[in-house]
Amino acid sequence: MSSAEGLPLQRVPKHVAIIMDGNGRWAKAQGLSRLEGHKQGAKRLRDVIQWAKDAGVKQVSLYAFSTENWKRPKLEIAGLMTLLATLLPLEVPKMQEKGARLLILGDISKFPWLARRALDKAVQATKNNTEIDVILCLNYGGQQEIVDGVKSFYASFDDEQTRAKAFSELTPETLYKFLGRDDILPVDLLIRTGGEKRISNFHLWDAAYAELYFTDTNWPAYSEQDLIAALQDFAHRERRFGKTSEQVQAGDRDE
Ligand code: IPE
Ligand code: IPE
Ligand code: MG
Repeated sequence: MSSAEGLPLQRVPKHVAIIMDGNGRWAKAQGLSRLEGHKQGAKRLRDVIQWAKDAGVKQVSLYAFSTENWKRPKLEIAGLMTLLATLLPLEVPKMQEKGARLLILGDISKFPWLARRALDKAVQATKNNTEIDVILCLNYGGQQEIVDGVKSFYASFDDEQTRAKAFSELTPETLYKFLGRDDILPVDLLIRTGGEKRISNFHLWDAAYAELYFTDTNWPAYSEQDLIAALQDFAHRERRFGKTSEQVQAGDRDE
């Protein structure tokens, strides 16, 4: 098996986020329905959890349904929800074997009951696992997440005066605490499959300093080689966070 061997450990991203795009185009190229593309795409999830774990990644977040995906044809949305409800329970034993904990990012309250039940059960069943976190992003949108954070910040004060003072002193660090991302590490590497070069509302806050990686491979065809290539690329990036290269190198030596 090819692996992440040769990757310096300190260069392995802790949190890898993936925009799993290209299911529809992959299916069309094979003469299959879009839904068949989603089905094949869902199968890649199991693999990617294993590959990420083997490489030493601690969290992998997977963009499965965006706040904008409600604009798709009703039939496609229904098909995606059915896939979630039927395939997720089959994944739970596999996640247990791998020691994977499932977390959900996004508001699933509008999802059909069967899908919600499958998600709740999977979250409960895997809550004590510690090898890797799998963060499924469902009805997730980075803009909505920030709006919700602002609302929670507003609602956290009882009186107008304290609120006004806190608001005038508001910093990104303070607002971040209201985004509900306590269990989630900052995204180090953001991968998009399927050839498009955009963020499509994923992890907007963390996109500020995540390393971006785009590949033409459509999600159903994604392989371990593809992930390793992204991890290797990441290992050679210099993350400066606004500093100069010299400062970063001096800091690296001091560590
Ligand atoms: C990504 O694949 C899966 C979801 C958004 C649910 P797409 O369905 O967007 O595939 P393309 O982009 O049309 O090929
Ligand atoms: C992003 O893909 C959302 C997911 C992969 C779930 P889309 O296919 O919805 O993104 P756009 O519409 O091409 O930007
Ligand atoms: Mg797409």
